[in-house]
Amino acid sequence: MPSEPKVSDPKALSDALERRLNRRTRVKGEISMPAAPSLLPLYIKRLAVMFAASGKKFSTDELKELHDMMRPRAETAWAVSPHGRLFVSWESEKAPASGVDYLVWHELGTTAEQYAWWVENRDQPLFGKHPDARLMSVVDEYLTPAAQHHVLDIGAGVGRNTLPLARRGHPADALELTPEFAKIIQDQAAAEDLLVDVLTGDVLADDLVIEPRKYSLVLCTEVTSHFRGPHHLRLLFERAHQWLKPGGLFLMNAFVTTPGYRPDAMARELSQIFWSTLFTPEDMTAAAAGMSFTKLTDHSVHDFEQEHQHADGWPPTGWFEDWSRGFDAFGLKEGFPPMELRWLLFRKEGV
Ligand SMILES: C[S@@+](CC[C@H](N)C(=O)[O-])C[C@H]1O[C@@H](n2cnc3c(N)ncnc32)[C@H](O)[C@@H]1O
Repeated sequence: MPSEPKVSDPKALSDALERRLNRRTRVKGEISMPAAPSLLPLYIKRLAVMFAASGKKFSTDELKELHDMMRPRAETAWAVSPHGRLFVSWESEKAPASGVDYLVWHELGTTAEQYAWWVENRDQPLFGKHPDARLMSVVDEYLTPAAQHHVLDIGAGVGRNTLPLARRGHPADALELTPEFAKIIQDQAAAEDLLVDVLTGDVLADDLVIEPRKYSLVLCTEVTSHFRGPHHLRLLFERAHQWLKPGGLFLMNAFVTTPGYRPDAMARELSQIFWSTLFTPEDMTAAAAGMSFTKLTDHSVHDFEQEHQHADGWPPTGWFEDWSRGFDAFGLKEGFPPMELRWLLFRKEGV
């Protein structure tokens, strides 16, 4: 029998050697992603590409199995906050096997933890040097003499607004979720001997106790961007209404979408992930429905603050301009996002 001819084509030989090299090569990787249920199909697509690049093309059934492992973890973390993380690590199997082993896990996160990190890692002033210009214009127009008008600052941060209100003579209460921030306000108020009561707590908590009909002004600025949906907005309106005196004012801001834009689940979830929770005009109307609120004004936060803020206070922070115009959530290269932060002023009617 004549022997088989030996292959002598250099290209075929080097390809054949290189193919065998794969048996001595191991690949491993890890990815972490925001734990959001609506993003799972996107994650599965990306993981399929990464696994294929690691030497294993996953079948539809294998990808479904991966999805089913990720789903309960994404749901658990998402229920706690939009700051949870999903992790997937993978490693190609040792030859002669040719698969990919993977592990899925998650970590929970909270908004207060995110902000506590800011205290250690970011420079003051965290939210700007001056109080909001819109707040000051409302106070000048409606709330004199200051001593007669009790104010509540919800999600007061480090007191950017609470402290100036107290310095003007308003009895001021601050409600703040992040204990590290509440302490900063408390310490500063004590150092200046200001009339400020600081309560550490969540404006949405079931067990929150605040005296009804006490305030001439309830302020809630840059806070609804952390809410988890229209049900939280509704609760905020109910509580503000309850805490205000008749004739009192509710000054708040929220990311409101352009009429006609219909955000899907992914847009809603991503807006929360980017600290820019969006609300449609219908969500806003529903939040105040049935309450004796009259809407007095509606302004673009970016435009109002840009025009009226102190020259040395604009922009208030490095992130403010993009964030307030919706670019943190919508990374558009051209044009403007279908939402922006709006200042809304309401008056509680009645006696
Ligand atoms: C972007 S900062 C704004 C702080 C302050 N309002 C200002 O404009 O300088 C958002 C603040 O809201 C607080 N916050 C978020 N969710 C809250 C909630 N459910 N109840 C009370 N405070 C909350 C955060 O801890 C943080 O201090």
